[in-house]
Amino acid sequence: MKEIEIRPFEAKDSSQVAALDQERFQLSPYREKTFLDSLSLLRQKILLVSSAKEVLGYLFYGWVEDEAEIYRLAVKKKEEGKGYATALLEEGERLLKEEGVKTVYLEVRKSNFRAQKLYAKEGYVFYRERKAYYDNGEDAYCLKKGLE
Ligand SMILES: CC(C)(COP(=O)(O)OP(=O)(O)OC[C@H]1O[C@@H](n2cnc3c(N)ncnc32)[C@H](O)[C@@H]1OP(=O)(O)O)[C@@H](O)C(=O)NCCC(=O)NCCS
Repeated sequence: MKEIEIRPFEAKDSSQVAALDQERFQLSPYREKTFLDSLSLLRQKILLVSSAKEVLGYLFYGWVEDEAEIYRLAVKKKEEGKGYATALLEEGERLLKEEGVKTVYLEVRKSNFRAQKLYAKEGYVFYRERKAYYDNGEDAYCLKKGLE
């Protein structure tokens, strides 16, 4: 059985994470540099779920004082449904709590039922809608979760 772990992103992972980002988010403006830059920023972090050879998923977030924003959460298509996104979210929230974060925010496409189901299961609640939030004109649901 291959070893699966959750670990921090390192520079050597940048091409795999950028490829996964392009696979899961059409027209994503994120590039390798976006992920590499996070390494020199104090309040941004990327967590990976990975096997010995391969990045299977990632969670990218940032925080300021007691508020955090999830920028990205994605799992490889062929690895979906194994609980990896849930594990990434829970580990990210644990680390954010250690940083003193009290509320986590995120946006999700209205059409993304799968992600909405995941976030609802993890305790995220709707607080507003943002019209035409995405480049293709799609609306976003804004969700938040208190970490206390
Ligand atoms: C959304 C995404 C991150 C979920 O990753 P995942 O590793 O498959 O998620 P998990 O296995 O942890 O499943 C979490 C929950 O998602 C839901 N889910 C999982 N597989 C599902 C499926 N086939 N159909 C519908 N919902 C499903 C379930 O609620 C599941 O919880 P449960 O199994 O305890 O009931 C992944 O589908 C993905 O990368 N999608 C493309 C990028 C994206 O949309 N990211 C979120 C942007 S806001």
